[in-house]
Amino acid sequence: MIQQKIQEIKEKKQAIILAHNYQRPEIQDVADFVGDSLDLSRMAANTSARTIVFCGVHFMAETASILSPDKMILLPDIDAGCPMADMVTVESLRKLKSIHPDAVVVSYVNTPAVVKAESDYCCTSANGVRVVSAIPDGKKIIFTPDKYLGAYIIRQTGRDMILTNGFCPTHQTITREGILELKKKYPQAIVIIHPECNPEAIDAADEALSTNGMCKFVASSEASEFIVGTETGIIHRLKKENPQKQFYPASPRTVCPNMKLITIEKLLWALEKDEYQIEVPEDVAEKAKMAIERMLQL
Ligand code: 13P
Ligand code: SF4
Repeated sequence: MIQQKIQEIKEKKQAIILAHNYQRPEIQDVADFVGDSLDLSRMAANTSARTIVFCGVHFMAETASILSPDKMILLPDIDAGCPMADMVTVESLRKLKSIHPDAVVVSYVNTPAVVKAESDYCCTSANGVRVVSAIPDGKKIIFTPDKYLGAYIIRQTGRDMILTNGFCPTHQTITREGILELKKKYPQAIVIIHPECNPEAIDAADEALSTNGMCKFVASSEASEFIVGTETGIIHRLKKENPQKQFYPASPRTVCPNMKLITIEKLLWALEKDEYQIEVPEDVAEKAKMAIERMLQL
């Protein structure tokens, strides 16, 4: 059985499998740890394993490599990227910085390492509000690349920020109209939504949360039905941890094609062949690490 083979090689190589909440059910089930971007970067920083197989997308594996440069970081499919992360380039950020030389740069973790290296702070959807709130009042802030997460943070903190034009195509399949329809069908359901969604959709929801925030919220909620406004892969974990509760995707189309590139066969292959190794050049990693560590310290 493929799962058993994965376990055997994993033990032999002292490897650990980290999986994002959006991964396929069979990947989540074989992983040592399933979590959101923030928790996965903490795990990568603290594990004693020699090899980390990262079942997620490229920027997540890069972040693991920056935090653990002495470990082998494997991404089972080299094409598993994040289109939003590629909506900001180091050139475009440098240009913006030259227009606002007094601004602090906060980069969403969904960015290439070279962009993090040009940033003062990194943040995830779990701590974006906290990171921005920690920046002294009156300081100009550039936030990149997600204009929707940026808009959400502006609304939560009351801080003015210069935004760039990035967005997650997968989360744009969730609409206010779709949520309102489902609320009519399931009037008892609580609507949880990811802050990568557009503000109109967020306003139709009850709680805006990171993916781990959703898992914690559902576990402690007395409600038994939830409309889930994020990538549908998370519903596997939510059902597993809360078998007595019901979950309805805010849209069945909210499937990230990049996350889904990782399959159980590719995971086995990655472990067998030590492929694809993700490395970040030392000079870039050193600068990017400062922005990530500032976030982890908060
Ligand atoms: P989380 O940090 O909430 O897991 O989100 C990552 C991501 O890519 C959302 O699309
Ligand atoms: Fe990127 Fe969106 Fe996929 Fe998350 S869901 S990895 S932001 S494309």
